[in-house]
Amino acid sequence: MAKDVIVALDFPSREETLAFLDRFPAGEAKPFVKIGMELYYAEGPSIVREIKARGHRIFLDLKLHDIPNTVKRAMAVLSGLEVDMVNLHAAGTSAMMKAALEGLTRPGGTRPILIAVTQLTSTGPESLKDELLIETPMAETVLAYAKNAAASGLDGVVCSPLEAALVKERCGRDFCTVTPGVRFAGGDVGDQKRVMTPAQAAENGCDYIVMGRPITQAEDPVEAYRRAVSEFLG
Ligand code: C5P
Repeated sequence: MAKDVIVALDFPSREETLAFLDRFPAGEAKPFVKIGMELYYAEGPSIVREIKARGHRIFLDLKLHDIPNTVKRAMAVLSGLEVDMVNLHAAGTSAMMKAALEGLTRPGGTRPILIAVTQLTSTGPESLKDELLIETPMAETVLAYAKNAAASGLDGVVCSPLEAALVKERCGRDFCTVTPGVRFAGGDVGDQKRVMTPAQAAENGCDYIVMGRPITQAEDPVEAYRRAVSEFLG
């Protein structure tokens, strides 16, 4: 399975995003990037096309969650943007996940990688029980959602680097894990709580690590990106 570092383009505008991407030398391999809600809602599909045209692979992180027909049709639109990876909430249930796969599949049979969010890491055990009314402990809930995503035909899940090994064990070696919460040794942790270094994430079986601020806010982002790639891929 392909392993790679994905750079989170958490910027509010096209200008800031392109200024960041312009720092990467022409003629070198372009980083795989993640476009989230902030940038997508600010700039719309044109920013996706523009970054794609510059030669980047794109993970469009919009976390869809709606009735199956709506998600299917939205996914068909996103697939037409030629993105490489998209996601949804596993809480939409297997009918929604299967519909998403149908919508994503292009006439030629190709489609972006589809991964699921299980439980947001911002949801704690108390809100799981008291607000979502889920009595099953968090770790078991996450694994059950991951298994449901795998059974629905999805390619993987977003999970913490600490959960990656267990997800692989339960859902199969080819079920991919995409993990944020990665920091360089000795670096600023910011608001991430349970973090791992790129090398530890690799040891734990993560397929893709998502890194934002340690790269985007670095004094030398290109050097930080290269460091992440060399530590993660070895
Ligand atoms: O800057 P940082 O490396 O913390 O960025 C991590 C990226 O991964 C952000 O875009 C954040 O929204 C995303 N993410 C996360 N934790 C999750 C899911 C997504 O940090 N559980």
